[in-house]
Amino acid sequence: MCHNRINFTLPSAFRGGTAMMTVQSTIKPLISEEQIAARVAELGRQIRQDYGDKNILLVGVLKGAAVFLSDLLRAIDGEVDYDFVAISSYGNGTKSSGVVRILKDLDESPIGRHVLIVEDIVDSGLTLEFLLENMRMHRTASVRVCTLLDKVARRVVNVPIDYRGFEVPDVFVVGYGMDYAGLYRNLPYIGILEEESAK
Ligand code: IMP
Ligand code: MG
Repeated sequence: MCHNRINFTLPSAFRGGTAMMTVQSTIKPLISEEQIAARVAELGRQIRQDYGDKNILLVGVLKGAAVFLSDLLRAIDGEVDYDFVAISSYGNGTKSSGVVRILKDLDESPIGRHVLIVEDIVDSGLTLEFLLENMRMHRTASVRVCTLLDKVARRVVNVPIDYRGFEVPDVFVVGYGMDYAGLYRNLPYIGILEEESAK
């Protein structure tokens, strides 16, 4: 676990500024690499136990869930495959725009498949609601949801979550696939993005 705060410097252009200044953002560790690995292993075991010997199709939501999906995939024994969808609901900011549309659909048909939607984090629930609605139009054998993080305090629409890694408070988190303005996805742990101060 990384106990020290790490400072990242974001170019002011990300903040809509034009001056040649940088802003400092701080990442406060929230969930360690070890904690994530232990929970992902548990989720994988639980999922396989619940599905029996069924063939599972993990459907990851790009880009945030890609890192979690790749670890979860290897934590599930037996027959499992994966696909990705890309959905836009956010700009470069930290608040939902409420606008949801499909940028990339599934490569293969989910008809007759046991689909397990894999999300990095459920916030308002709007993205997931849209995706579940979309899946219902296909004749899948089943649809369930697995999210690594659940920011339950921010929920706007009621969505069913079958597997959840961790509940997190109403903070903006980054790392382990999750970004702010395209940064921090490469952090191996999950941290809270704290207020940026001009330098
Ligand atoms: P929702 O539609 O509001 O539930 O938003 C879901 C998506 O927004 C997630 O899959 C993330 O990609 C993104 N998101 C929500 N909260 C955070 C956060 O704290 N950090 C990074 N991305 C987030
Ligand atoms: Mg996402």
